[in-house]
Amino acid sequence: MSEQEIRVPDLGGADEVEVIELLVSAGDSVEAEDPILTVETDKASVELPSPGAGKIIKLTVKVGDKVKEGDVVGTIESSGESGGSDDSAGEPEAKAEEKTETESSSKGGAEPDASKPAPKKKSGGSRTEVVLVPPLDGMEDVPVIEINVSEGDTVEADDALVTVESDKASMEIPSPFSGKVVKVLVAEGDKLSEGDKLLELSVAEDGGDGDDDVEESSDQDDAPADSGQDAKSEAEADDKATPKEPAARSQSAVSEPPAPGAGVHAGPAVRKLARELGADMARIKGSGPKSRILKDDVQNYVKSQLQQAQQGSAVATGSGIPGVKLPDFSQFGDIEKEAMSRMMAVTAANMQRSWLNVPHVTQFEDADITDMEAFRKSQKAAGEKKGVKMTPLPFLLKACATALAELPQFNVSLDMERKEVIRKQYVHIGIAVDTPNGLMVPVIRDVDKKGLWELAAESAELAQKARDKKLKPAEMQGACFTITSLGGIGGTAFTPIVNAPEVAILGVSKAAMKPVWDGSGFQPRLLLPLSLSYDHRAVNGADAARFTSCLSRLLSDLRELLL
Ligand code: COA
Repeated sequence: MSEQEIRVPDLGGADEVEVIELLVSAGDSVEAEDPILTVETDKASVELPSPGAGKIIKLTVKVGDKVKEGDVVGTIESSGESGGSDDSAGEPEAKAEEKTETESSSKGGAEPDASKPAPKKKSGGSRTEVVLVPPLDGMEDVPVIEINVSEGDTVEADDALVTVESDKASMEIPSPFSGKVVKVLVAEGDKLSEGDKLLELSVAEDGGDGDDDVEESSDQDDAPADSGQDAKSEAEADDKATPKEPAARSQSAVSEPPAPGAGVHAGPAVRKLARELGADMARIKGSGPKSRILKDDVQNYVKSQLQQAQQGSAVATGSGIPGVKLPDFSQFGDIEKEAMSRMMAVTAANMQRSWLNVPHVTQFEDADITDMEAFRKSQKAAGEKKGVKMTPLPFLLKACATALAELPQFNVSLDMERKEVIRKQYVHIGIAVDTPNGLMVPVIRDVDKKGLWELAAESAELAQKARDKKLKPAEMQGACFTITSLGGIGGTAFTPIVNAPEVAILGVSKAAMKPVWDGSGFQPRLLLPLSLSYDHRAVNGADAARFTSCLSRLLSDLRELLL
């Protein structure tokens, strides 16, 4: 273990650069070459790499500080896998740049400069230039991560054409000319090296003397090497079309701030983070200098997207459906604002999730409960003795348990990811309870194994616990099916929302005496309205009609429940 200073490496000619982002903090562990901080000139940005693997002891600069080559920006406790000694901190980068400079200077001689345009062809008042990849600081096979222009786009000289990214830096390749993009010759993911063809650009002729020097080429596919000198002479002759020294920008393997509207502005580490998190950088607002996107911006963006998805925000729901925009209600009259209770917020999110995820259909049916009610009322005295009130609910629970056994396709959940149907061998039924705090759904277990008195006692006890806020989480879990009874309140029918991942829910409305034709005359019968909502992915309509018919049959003739 030894301490090592982290120094600013060769910045490719830039004197003083500004620290715009710290990418690590004291105590962080880093690998050799991991980015430590980002600096930026008015033209370019670069991430300074760690000279070795180890633990950051301290950073001695802050955002906004100006640094130059050789300045100490921090100290690292080396774990022994250093890329060099104290003195050579940042040396790998410096070496790479020296190599580039050597290569660049040799191009001024016999070698054609690949950063200059390839041969061009004339077409009326314009000519077509083939833009080549400029020197990339000695890097080769650098992947294209973004194409900033499309065919037909008009670009100014200096506009970013494509962005390439190595493991150290991202770099935007600027247009050497103003013109119109004729053809993009690369695709995202392509690996580029100096001299590769990037795109064809139609450049307006200005009638200047440069025209005479233009060599026509009918073959656009001429190798760049052959064309370098032509391009050079053209560049010297035609001021308007003179390439803006694209190679100069790549001297320090830097990314240049994009022209207005030309792509996003961020370093490789931030781009990598965004890619890993699946964040679309075009949607992220940069808070750094010149709207540069920082790590925090990516993290905050992802966080807010997750929150929106989870809470079904008013702006955008998790399913991508635009939310309901609220007007300023105070313009219509006095208003009061109150924070939602936690339970209301949770119920709202659950309802929305179920309603958006489950294709709902509701089946209606009336059950003749005239005899059932007569029987129920006859049990009043017995109930008083037991201290239990017999309401219609236990009969409904028992009838639903029997119907679930008869039609087991209702006692399932769907796993759409695995394309599996999960069949349940137990019958636990939830009952929706209206409480002053909102809707709660306690669960009665093994309904099929319990008698009517037991169900009456248990449902009353759970309903009371719900109203007293005494339900335990386990008492609200594991339901296969839910009953929501508004019968004690009123109504003739409704369309309940399936309590997903269950696949069906029975809504019960208020029983009412109605005339029923018996073949020879109308008889007064007590009819109980049933509304069965179901997940149409799990259950088909015929089975839903069978289920409500089954319930109607069981409730009309209680003897069936005994079988
Ligand atoms: N038709 C006619 N009368 C009915 C009825 C029906 N379908 N269901 C119940 N009743 C009667 C009961 O017999 C009782 O009358 P009684 O005192 O004369 O005997 C009265 O209505 C009140 O019954 P209730 O206390 O509601 O008992 P219950 O066992 O029927 O229901 C709960 C218990 C917990 C389901 C019920 O109190 C409740 O909270 N319901 C609301 C559920 C809800 O909000 N659902 C909406 C979800 S979005």
